[in-house]
Amino acid sequence: MTPQTQATAAPTATRTYTIAVIPGDGTGPEVIREGRKVLEALAGRGTFRLQWRDYDLGGARYLKTKETLPAGVVKELREVDAIYLGAIGHPDVKPGILEQGILLKLRFELDQYINLRPVKLYPGVWTPLRDKGPEHIDFVVVRENTEGLYAGVGGFLRKGTTEEVALQTSVNTRHGVERCIRYAFECTRKRAKGKKLTLCGKTNVLTFAHDLWQRVFDEVAASYPDIRTEYTHVDACCMWMVKNPEWFDVIVTDNMFGDIITDLGAMIQGGMGIAAGGNLHPGGVSMFEPIGGSAPKYTGQNVINPLAAICAGGMMLEQLGEPEAAQALERAVMQVTGTKLKSLAAGKMGYSTSEVGDLVVQALK
Ligand code: IPM
Ligand code: MN
Repeated sequence: MTPQTQATAAPTATRTYTIAVIPGDGTGPEVIREGRKVLEALAGRGTFRLQWRDYDLGGARYLKTKETLPAGVVKELREVDAIYLGAIGHPDVKPGILEQGILLKLRFELDQYINLRPVKLYPGVWTPLRDKGPEHIDFVVVRENTEGLYAGVGGFLRKGTTEEVALQTSVNTRHGVERCIRYAFECTRKRAKGKKLTLCGKTNVLTFAHDLWQRVFDEVAASYPDIRTEYTHVDACCMWMVKNPEWFDVIVTDNMFGDIITDLGAMIQGGMGIAAGGNLHPGGVSMFEPIGGSAPKYTGQNVINPLAAICAGGMMLEQLGEPEAAQALERAVMQVTGTKLKSLAAGKMGYSTSEVGDLVVQALK
C-alpha cells in the first residue's frame, strides 16, 4: 500500500530561526529597529518565522556594571541561529574596551573566522569614483577574522621608559589561512560574476606570513580549475579599487589588510549608510552588522541611514538558508536607493530613519 504521505505533498514546514539581537550603542538601536521591521515583513510571507532574543550588551551596560560580555551570555549565544548586531562604541568608554571585550571577543569565542564584506554600488547611489557606476562596482571581500594582528599576541618591554619595546605579532596558522582561502574559493564559485579570486597580501615584505598565504592559495587553487586567480599587493589593491574596481570579483586577505580595504570598499559603494558585513562561522553561529559604528552625534534623532543594518539582515537571511527572502530584500533596497533616497548620508536622505525602513517594507510588496 502506498503510504499516504506520498499522495499529498506535505505542507512546507515553517522554519523558525532564533535571532539574538544586540542593538548596542548610539544609533545601533535605531537602525536595528528598521532591520527587524523589514525582516518581520519578509517572515510575514509565511515561509519562515523569527524569534528574537534581546541582549543589552554595549557601552551603557558596561558603564553600569563594568561587564562587557558575561560568560553566561556567550553560552546562550552559542545556541542561537544568528546574531544581529547594531553597533558597539560609547563616547564615555575608553577606546578598545568595548571593541575587544564585546566585538572581537564574540568573533573569537564563536570562531567567526570569515568577515564577509560585499562591496556593491546600488542604483541611484553616489560614489566618489567619477565615471563609475553599478556596472563597475560589485565585488566581495573575504577577510580572515580570527588571526593575524588581531590575535592579541605581543607585549611590552620596559614600558614607559625611553627604551620601551612594543611587539604585536601577526599570527597566521596553516589551519586558519586554509579555511579562509577555501571559503573564498567556494564564495567565488557561487557568484555569477567573472569567477575570479584575488589574493591580497604583501609578499614582498611579509616574507613569512604571506609566503604561507601564497603557498596555501596556490595549493587550494589547484582544486578550482574553473576559477581564475591573481595576486595583488595590498597597496596596489587600494589603487585598483579606486581606479578599476570592475576588475574585482572576490578578494581574499588577512585580518588587518581586510579591515583597511573594506573601509575603502564601503566608501566606493556609497558610504557607511549602506555597508554591511557578516562575521561568519559557516555551520555555526554567525553575526551580522552594519559596519558604520555607533555614530554618537546622530543618536536619537531618527536621521541615521538604516539601509546598512537592513542589508546586514539580508546577509543573515542568506546565511540562514533563505536566499529568496535575501534577494527580495536586496531588490527592495535597490528600488529605494534607485527611486527614493536623495542621499545615503545621515540627515540628507530626504526621509527619516523609520521612513526609510517603511519604504523598504513597501518595496517588498
Ligand atoms: C570592523 C571594525 C573592528 C575591526 C573594530 C571595531 C575592532 O573596524 O569590523 O572592521 O577592526 O575589525
Ligand atoms: Mn574596520
